[in-house]
Amino acid sequence: MNMLWTNSLSYAHHERNVIVYYTGTGNSLQVALALRERLGGDLVSAADLIRGECKLEHDGIFGIVCPVHFYGLPMTVVDLLSRISFVNGDPEVFLVLTCGAFTSKADLEAERLLSAGGLRLDYVFSVKMPENYTPLFRVPSQNKIDGLLSVVDAEADEMAAIIQKGIKGNHNRNRGLGFMTRVARGHFIRGRRTSGFRLNDRCTGCGLCAAICPVNAIEIKEGQANWVKDRCDLCLACLHRCPSWAIERGRLTRRKRYVNPVLDDSR
Ligand SMILES: Cc1cc2nc3c(=O)[nH]c(=O)nc-3n(C[C@H](O)[C@H](O)[C@H](O)COP(=O)(O)O)c2cc1C
Ligand code: SF4
Ligand code: SF4
Repeated sequence: MNMLWTNSLSYAHHERNVIVYYTGTGNSLQVALALRERLGGDLVSAADLIRGECKLEHDGIFGIVCPVHFYGLPMTVVDLLSRISFVNGDPEVFLVLTCGAFTSKADLEAERLLSAGGLRLDYVFSVKMPENYTPLFRVPSQNKIDGLLSVVDAEADEMAAIIQKGIKGNHNRNRGLGFMTRVARGHFIRGRRTSGFRLNDRCTGCGLCAAICPVNAIEIKEGQANWVKDRCDLCLACLHRCPSWAIERGRLTRRKRYVNPVLDDSR
């Protein structure tokens, strides 16, 4: 097995698996960490990788773990998968989608993007996790959150065993309504406006939101968070992880924030 990433970040992986993760509130990071524990290899942030030109030279395991965003992939992951170029070797590729309810055809979007770059999607999985799209839905009760997070290890055992045994195929058990991708995806891609965010008077200018934004859409100016791009990924990391609950996106988002415990130390 040999793997080499070449990009401006100079990632070089030899004899190692690579798991690329994208996360807003930590759910996908929790799943990626559990898989790395079982499969070994390196964990790489999609938001970091996208800052360079990604060329993959490899015949090990290449995994992507990310949330479902409006029945498709997060836009940074779309970007990343469109830019990955496969140099040689024969990698085994897996995708794990985390979702609050169901994925619709997000897996097909990944398959299409990968195949354009000469990669096959060998394994697809999904894991139901606490919902974080609070402009529309409530954060689940603590009981429900505990229940969902408590089965992640067992799900990771199962996914890792399937990959290690080479049982290729689509193992997504949360596809739900297939037509939702067609109904909602275009609206999401055209939307994602940062003008929908409101900063309340609790902002301390601590800079965390700017540091964690995957698309550098926030800057701190005069001690306050400012959105400096018209559109963003809408991952809601800034809204949920702000220690002062200073970011809102509509009335419903004032109620409660959600952060997966894997991010407890860093928010
Ligand atoms: C913009 C946005 C869109 C979402 N769309 C969906 C969706 O289409 N289907 C779904 O089941 N969950 C959806 N969710 C919920 C997340 O996929 C889910 O909570 C995920 O586990 C969050 O992962 P993260 O903590 O790694 O960001 C959405 C969340 C966001 C922020
Ligand atoms: S994380 Fe919150 S408090 Fe800190 S700068 Fe951003 S909005 Fe302000
Ligand atoms: S501005 Fe907030 S919601 Fe938008 S991509 Fe950045 S962190 Fe995510």
